[in-house]
Amino acid sequence: MNRDDIQVGLSYSDVLLVPRRSSVGSRKAVDTKSAITKGITLNVPIITANMDTVTESAMAIAIATEGGLGIIHRFMSIDREAEEVMRVKRSTAYITYKPYSIGKNVSIGEARAMMDKMEVSGLLVVDKSNHLLGILSDRDMRFTKNDKEHVSEAMTPRKKLVVGEPGIRMDRALDIIDRNRLEKLPLVDRNDVVRGLITSKDIYKRIRSEKSAMDRKGRLLAGAAIGTRGDYVERAQALASAGADAIVLDIAHGHSDSVIAAIKAVKKEIPDVAIVAGNVATAEGTADLITAGADVIKVGIGPGAACTTRRVTGAGMPQLTAVMDCSDAAESSGVNVIADGGIKESGDITKALAAGAAAVMSGSLFAGTDESPGFFVVRQGIKYKAYRGMSSFGANISRKKLDKDIIDPQEAFDIVPEGVESSVPYKGSVREVVYQLVGGVRSGMSYCGAANLAELRKNAKFIRLTESAMKESYDKLKE
Ligand code: XMP
Repeated sequence: MNRDDIQVGLSYSDVLLVPRRSSVGSRKAVDTKSAITKGITLNVPIITANMDTVTESAMAIAIATEGGLGIIHRFMSIDREAEEVMRVKRSTAYITYKPYSIGKNVSIGEARAMMDKMEVSGLLVVDKSNHLLGILSDRDMRFTKNDKEHVSEAMTPRKKLVVGEPGIRMDRALDIIDRNRLEKLPLVDRNDVVRGLITSKDIYKRIRSEKSAMDRKGRLLAGAAIGTRGDYVERAQALASAGADAIVLDIAHGHSDSVIAAIKAVKKEIPDVAIVAGNVATAEGTADLITAGADVIKVGIGPGAACTTRRVTGAGMPQLTAVMDCSDAAESSGVNVIADGGIKESGDITKALAAGAAAVMSGSLFAGTDESPGFFVVRQGIKYKAYRGMSSFGANISRKKLDKDIIDPQEAFDIVPEGVESSVPYKGSVREVVYQLVGGVRSGMSYCGAANLAELRKNAKFIRLTESAMKESYDKLKE
């Protein structure tokens, strides 16, 4: 080891952005759009972490509606993860291409159970060749006394239904829905085969959500995570078939032979889906994953709020320096980086973007929202929600329990956690959290004289803080 080689590493709190002359008129004039790959453009450069206390479909829907992206975690069966992705892709598209359907001879009881499970208010009734036979809605079932009755006895039959043609334009669909006061408009081809469904709820949601992050078909964006062991290729295929826009290949030490091999294997099977790979924290790690075929690099070793990797292992890299080194290394290949972990407030997001990240990923900022998985708890009159590192003891045990009910004590003993199980204050909805974060980022960009992220990256100038400057910056009156 050469002692002269020891580099200084900076974290977000070590610096501030130097205010620059600005021609940006107001916060509203600032554009936070970020194309993280050719096909994935976020209106808000914020991604929710693939952690089991942060992102499942409810979170992914909420954050994409606000213009960001959610990555569904992978600590569940392949089928369930694919289903979570499908829920996002179905949610606010104005056309649902594979609507839930049921046969006419199924019992009302079974239909009700299916509707509860899928959280929908109606099902299309079809025959074996997917011809439309009717619609069964909540309303139809309300008057059914006997759950053993067949769907055909309660449904609204085909001859009473108004339908549209596949590929119908939004304005025409809206017109038909309004004129006929419909809740559901099935789309059928000339042979009466079901090709899609438009619900009035989805079409109105879609109209309201100009800011949402969408794919080319107008569906919300969704990402989903995989690992590098066992059936990960099969999982990636299932997620891609479910409509995932990005597959996040995520392990703690991403600069490893296993990740490089996994990127190649997944890329070979699903070349059209963006692969986000990580986590790394160095220029070499970034270059190796790009050479292997990664489309986006995820950066962050140990900055996370629930991480103990740096303390347990002694390894890690201060996050601002990691983001700068990795984004510099990625720039010539046209690949973007995501700054993952350690974002404590909106100012940190501006700093990460100024340092070269195309987006940030956060767990702790979102774990306390209505849309994160799990319930809140009340302690001394204050609401909290659980938040745990994915390498924590509890998360390791939950993972083992996916495969078997009883854990051998030796297996529990063998766990060396690199994360903690904790909780964060309850914060209300994702919408409120994102509004505050983005407001801060927009203002921060205007301090840097930047009207968009490219200008921020170009204009930004950091200044390092002394200990007293840190006090001046962060030691404020407590509310
Ligand atoms: P924040 O600070 O946003 O960080 O809460 C979220 C990121 O933390 C990483 N992560 C972990 N890192 N041990 C770690 O060292 C863990 O148990 C752990 N769990 C999550 C992950 O990159 C996430 O996006």
